[in-house]
Amino acid sequence: NKVFIPEVFFTNDCLTGEDVVKSTRVLGDLDGVFQDKEAYGKMNKEQVVYHVSSYLPVLESTPGGLFMGITTLYSGKVGQEYFMTKGHFHSNSDRAEFYWGVEGEGFLILMDERRNVWAERMFPGSLHYIPGKVAHRVANTGYQKLVFSACWPSDAGHDYATIADTGFARRLVDVNGVPTLV
Ligand code: 6PG
Ligand code: NI
Repeated sequence: NKVFIPEVFFTNDCLTGEDVVKSTRVLGDLDGVFQDKEAYGKMNKEQVVYHVSSYLPVLESTPGGLFMGITTLYSGKVGQEYFMTKGHFHSNSDRAEFYWGVEGEGFLILMDERRNVWAERMFPGSLHYIPGKVAHRVANTGYQKLVFSACWPSDAGHDYATIADTGFARRLVDVNGVPTLV
């Protein structure tokens, strides 16, 4: 009748413990992501755009397992475009994912393989099902950090190359103070 204490803990904006992998993306890691090259060129490339902490209880590629992560995306803009994650399809393209909003506000931007783009508003308590074969990226449209959590299959993988090559068909920009997909 032993009782165990979990090895991994979460707070609002990060995970701690064994098997937790942390990564940080600074502006310099997002070269080519934002539309306004001139505005990007003038900004401090050391500025942190987002942190991700991920709990990987099984090896990557393991079929049938799950991963969980918390992303903290800071508030900011490059020109009129909101700070956002790189965005990706899953390498195993039919793998789905859940996102849910924890703190702050923004939008989940989604794109299917036919390049149709749509967005879902994120806020504390919002829940988002990302079907397979749908690329996903998050933009922070608020004045504070945006925190969201995710759960995805351990054999999903990340295909960043497709987005690096062809981008999303639409971008979320500030048009007179209103987040607008253009
Ligand atoms: C995943 C999730 C999520 C995502 C981060 C950072 O599949 O792992 O979608 O954890 O990786 O929010 O976004 P980027 O991976 O697009 O940089
Ligand atoms: Ni994903």
